[in-house]
Amino acid sequence: MLNNNYRSAISQSIFGYISEAAAQIGVDTYVIGGFVRDYILDREKSKDIDIVAVGSGIELANRVADLLPGEHKVQIFKTYGTAMLKDEELEVEFVGARKESYTHDSRNPRVETGTLKDDQNRRDFTINAMAISLMKEDFGSLLDPFNGLQDLEDKVIRTPLDPDITFSDDPLRMMRAIRFSSQLSFRIDSDCLDSIRRNSERINIVSKERIVDELNKILMSPKPSIGLRLLFETDLLPHILPELSALRGVEQIRGQKHKDNFYHTLQVVDNISENTDNLWLRWAALLHDIGKAPTKKFDKKIGWTFHGHEFIGSKMVKRIFKRLKMPLNEKMKYVQKIVMMSSRPVVLAENVTDSAVRRLIFDAGEDLDDLMTHCEADITTKNKKKEKEYLDNFKSVRQKIKEVEERDHVRNFQPPISGELIMETFNMKPCREIGLIKDSIKEAILEGEIANDYDEAYAFMVKKAESLGLSKMD
Ligand code: CTP
Repeated sequence: MLNNNYRSAISQSIFGYISEAAAQIGVDTYVIGGFVRDYILDREKSKDIDIVAVGSGIELANRVADLLPGEHKVQIFKTYGTAMLKDEELEVEFVGARKESYTHDSRNPRVETGTLKDDQNRRDFTINAMAISLMKEDFGSLLDPFNGLQDLEDKVIRTPLDPDITFSDDPLRMMRAIRFSSQLSFRIDSDCLDSIRRNSERINIVSKERIVDELNKILMSPKPSIGLRLLFETDLLPHILPELSALRGVEQIRGQKHKDNFYHTLQVVDNISENTDNLWLRWAALLHDIGKAPTKKFDKKIGWTFHGHEFIGSKMVKRIFKRLKMPLNEKMKYVQKIVMMSSRPVVLAENVTDSAVRRLIFDAGEDLDDLMTHCEADITTKNKKKEKEYLDNFKSVRQKIKEVEERDHVRNFQPPISGELIMETFNMKPCREIGLIKDSIKEAILEGEIANDYDEAYAFMVKKAESLGLSKMD
């Protein structure tokens, strides 16, 4: 696999300089970790390169900076003994080879200098522990003590050491295993899976930010259900998103079942991932049914109900974002909005009236296309006939939206009559009546009683004001 092309490709790049610097100061130097993995997999090249020096990483980085053409500033992190060289395209991190030992309650290890082998031992997975020599005498040769290359070929994720040690040392690795499995479509070795299950509770010592980073990567993978299912099966999910694991299961009363909303959700996330790379729309798909666990009821006459689950779900979104220390900004509001509105187009599909479409356009605003994409992804019936029927319904909703938009321009609706104009016309100070008049104009437009235009809205305003006992200034 590491053929001549490979050697010439890397020697023409930054690695040539690193190799020269290593020879000059006499330290054994290797490229290691994710870059090697992705290079062999022929994945899109990562811009992060990790270099390990059996000696001082900082001294090596300084020497590389001296050799490179142009000015280069080395960023030094003394506490970690690491140094970073950056340009627009690459971030190269230099670190001295080290041995790590962990205590039970912390992710921060005690660090000692070590050999290359020590450094490979402390790494998470065999596929991430491979190193390539940058020394002149064996430039380009692979040092692979744990058979990472074979594991890449077999598409398997395994830890170099006993998985209980690797995962207990750094429990974030449990999520990393699942994230790599989801990104690469690799399976996780069964001993590792058992170990994750045994150690799942230790995920609680990992910072929320790192957990969310991994969760986002799982969500952005081609088929997120691979990772989400593994999170559930390894018992990690209840520690991270208990609201989602609460959707698992099917209950039956009087012969009536509801669907398993957990597996339904995974299917929806996979469906939407075929049509969007918008992380937040994928989050909305993930959370769209979370209100179903707390609202589930069995009604003797109509069977299973989840009344108001969209509203409850959208409230839960905020609590989840807060707990996971995710930003409580417009992205969160967007997720809440899609969750809140997730059933609107479905209801509408059964009876497409102009006024309902106008209301949908008005309420969804610029997120209408995303909402429709979500609704289409929400169709998970296995019955082909039904699937076609639902998709056709949404097609007619989309068509109707187009027609109504072209005619009525209600997206990003700006009322044709402002509050100021109402006050001026009736010589009033700000008061409740102005809000009433403004609202009734909006309602009349959405209901189709008047057109979305100034003259009709003005005449309507005068009539409405008269009914409230107000008269126009002359
Ligand atoms: N590593 C580890 N344990 C971790 C994080 C990282 O052992 N919790 C090691 C692995 O050898 C990994 C390398 O550090 O390959 C670099 O880590 P990082 O840049 O976080 O990940 P990559 O493997 O490069 O993958 P990605 O860029 O997709 O996150």
